[in-house]
Amino acid sequence: MTERRDGADHGADDASEDDTFELELVWSDVVLTVPAGRSALDVLAAAGVAIEAGCGHGSCGTCATEFVEGEVIHRDTCLSVADREHEFCPCISRGRGRIILPL
Ligand code: FES
Repeated sequence: MTERRDGADHGADDASEDDTFELELVWSDVVLTVPAGRSALDVLAAAGVAIEAGCGHGSCGTCATEFVEGEVIHRDTCLSVADREHEFCPCISRGRGRIILPL
């Protein structure tokens, strides 16, 4: 098990964390599907949502994006516990079910 700075067990060995999930762009009335093996950042970019990115693996925080609702599986190493209440890194983090974005 890898110890993260928030002390939580993120269960990185849980294969279910790579399941498909959805991103709802609430102001655009669009729902995007993020399949296993593809990042949310990639899906957003393909839909025309430009999010600046840096490292691509959750360490720089450049891509940090606000969400308003949903269960995010945080896999970054840069956001604080407080940041994770309302932001996630779509380059690496995933979700369960549907994540609502104010876009
Ligand atoms: S691009 Fe660096 S955390 Fe996402």
